[in-house]
Amino acid sequence: MAATRQSRARSSMIAGGGAEVAARSQEDSPGGADFAPSALGTRQHWDAVYERGLNNFQEYGDRGEIWFGEESINRLTRWMQRQKIPLDASVLDIGTGNGVFLVELAKLGFSNITGIDYSPPAIRLSGSVLEKEGLSNIKLKVEDFLNLPTELSGFHVCIDRGTFDAISLNPDNAAEKRKQYVKSLSRVLKVKGFFLITSCNWTKEELLNEFSEGLELFEELPTPKFSFGGRSGSSVAALVFQKTRDFSLDKPS
Ligand SMILES: C[S@@+](CC[C@H](N)C(=O)[O-])C[C@H]1O[C@@H](n2cnc3c(N)ncnc32)[C@H](O)[C@@H]1O
Repeated sequence: MAATRQSRARSSMIAGGGAEVAARSQEDSPGGADFAPSALGTRQHWDAVYERGLNNFQEYGDRGEIWFGEESINRLTRWMQRQKIPLDASVLDIGTGNGVFLVELAKLGFSNITGIDYSPPAIRLSGSVLEKEGLSNIKLKVEDFLNLPTELSGFHVCIDRGTFDAISLNPDNAAEKRKQYVKSLSRVLKVKGFFLITSCNWTKEELLNEFSEGLELFEELPTPKFSFGGRSGSSVAALVFQKTRDFSLDKPS
């Protein structure tokens, strides 16, 4: 059974083992909603998280949180292998955090990988993690996905693991920022390219609504299911979209 608003646990932004529930500020139809603003939607929050992460990594070699768990990474890399995405395909990890996904891609042989994050300590941490793994061929940049330089474009595959979730919690006009996200995605992804998103704040139906323009659902990746009170659902949605045409470029936001 498909996840429903009632059955779905919105265990938003699971950090440090704790779950914070993202409350909707209004009951809504898909796409009409905003989450209650949260510090998790701000750069200050992520700067503090990754400053701590960097200290932990330097002191104890601890890379920190694997968002959505290890299996969520395998789910994406398995899909890329099944789909026979060429090893030289250009891949962009949007909001790369500690860079753990980049490490797995590089270990599989992907050779044209870029990680961006708007948090400078995140990029310093991912740089240190990659260096320790002996992986030198990965591009890392401090970039705000909502305000990109023009040279970042033409990617075959874009990955989002929790970044759209974080942006949706921004206290300052999150609805506008979500629209800007879609525009940026349109800019960086090639036509026929794939966008893989893993989210714990949005249901499949809501993601389909958010990413309806110029993208079509290619595949839903199976995520762990839970049952409660006779209903079942997933706490995480993992979808693959394919870009069908350029979109959102000429419209005012
Ligand atoms: C939930 S964490 C996930 C990190 C990483 N994707 C992972 O799987 O470990 C969300 C990440 O998105 C980044 N982020 C949030 N808004 C961003 C933006 N506008 N541009 C770039 N990165 C952003 C945060 O700094 C943080 O690293």
